[in-house]
Amino acid sequence: MTGSLLSRLILRRSSQQPNRFIFQRGISQSAAERTKDTLPAEPPVLPAFDHAPSPYSGPSGNDIIAKRREYLSPSIFHAYKSPLNVVEGKRQYLFDENGRRYLDAFGGIATVCCGHCHPDVVAAIVEQTKKLQHSTVLYLNHAVTDFAEALASKLPGNLKVAFFTNSGTEANELAMLIARLYTGCNDIISIRNSYHGNASGTMGATAQSIWKFNVVQTGVHHAVNPDPYRGIFGSDGEKYARDVQDIINFGTFGNVAAFMSESIQGVGGIVELAPGYLSAAYESVKKAGGLCIADEVQAGFARTGSHFWGFEAHGVQPDIVTMAKGIGNGIPLGAVVTTPEIAKALTHRNYFNTFGGNPVCTAAGLAVLKVIEKEKLQENAFVVGSHLKERLNALKDKYEIIGDVRGKGFMLGVELVTDRELKTPAKEETLHVMEQLKDLGVLVGKGGYYGNVFRITPPLCFSKEDADFLVDAMDYTLSRI
Ligand SMILES: Cc1ncc(COP(=O)(O)O)c(C=O)c1O
Repeated sequence: MTGSLLSRLILRRSSQQPNRFIFQRGISQSAAERTKDTLPAEPPVLPAFDHAPSPYSGPSGNDIIAKRREYLSPSIFHAYKSPLNVVEGKRQYLFDENGRRYLDAFGGIATVCCGHCHPDVVAAIVEQTKKLQHSTVLYLNHAVTDFAEALASKLPGNLKVAFFTNSGTEANELAMLIARLYTGCNDIISIRNSYHGNASGTMGATAQSIWKFNVVQTGVHHAVNPDPYRGIFGSDGEKYARDVQDIINFGTFGNVAAFMSESIQGVGGIVELAPGYLSAAYESVKKAGGLCIADEVQAGFARTGSHFWGFEAHGVQPDIVTMAKGIGNGIPLGAVVTTPEIAKALTHRNYFNTFGGNPVCTAAGLAVLKVIEKEKLQENAFVVGSHLKERLNALKDKYEIIGDVRGKGFMLGVELVTDRELKTPAKEETLHVMEQLKDLGVLVGKGGYYGNVFRITPPLCFSKEDADFLVDAMDYTLSRI
């Protein structure tokens, strides 16, 4: 974008093509109306932080890009026009090859929960690695049982049997398998706009074409998305849930294996499910003999602030909970937790995972749980996340381009639209603002089917000053669009 930065996309109906819209650049009413006093004159300054990164003498970003092109899969993509070479991390900050500090408001995609390289987590990993790095579950070791016991204490009801995996995809694949074996049914229902992974079963459960390949994906039905912003029934969760019953009635033989859902859709653009939806959907599924799977890969581990697990805010009790990302603060770890009775479904054949329950990963997992508790990170996610959301909402009142602010705790989304009424995705502007934010020193994620939603999922130690800096940086950038 150039001199026309002080313009924005507006929509007008073409007389030649009555059913199509074309975009035209024009002066934004709200931008023109904005008074000088409300526009931030100076770029905001990063909050102070007492850490000097080690001098870096490794390959430059350009060298790495060249090697990536030669030796890594061409399917791997990167953020930003000039990608960031991240060489060190501490708490909620990342450092690039030149020692420049960035506020990390994406947390490695909602994964770094305790903060980068948290000393307790690092110590647990190092200590365990020195003693025993790997053995497989064929032999006994206390790291895996210690963690399983601690994890069970964080879950409600009889959810106390864990099976460890290496990723969220693996956890969801396993959950789908267990549900099918336990119920003897094949049909699974997931929600449109969801993301559950990218292996064959989970790609079927994922319901966004941009994350699917043209391969056989059978046995999953996709229910209408209970999206309060873009959905057809607004915030009426029970109306959306009728589609789950309809799928059971008209798309299956009357019984299903499972219903699988995130409690806040992450990759889909931080979409909160309409209130009342999950409980009504669970009721239909349970009546049809199905199990309810809560995918807590992003919303779990205190991220939403009000609860430790995202599903708890919906007042539901799942039969299976899947988790990854925040569980290990970045170490490859995932888990499926279910009841002892349901877990038995997997005993009819051998099921084995070489690295699942690895002592180093589970030692890290235990350290993560302790840090979340010791540093009251859930409370912090609630308090600072609420403040951040409030300030983002104030920004929404100031800039028309912000169509929606949503989410809970440290799982927040800001959707940009070029027309509030038509909710036209402002994809180009989102990319532009994201670049500008990076130049100001703050990293946010991007998501949603149209790529027009900022995903704000920082480490849970993010402070009020960080939140203010992020919003000031967004304010500064938007004031110049
Ligand atoms: C909700 C959800 N489930 C599952 C997955 C898959 O996890 P992984 O990338 O660890 O396989 C993701 C990844 O983003 C996710 O957001």
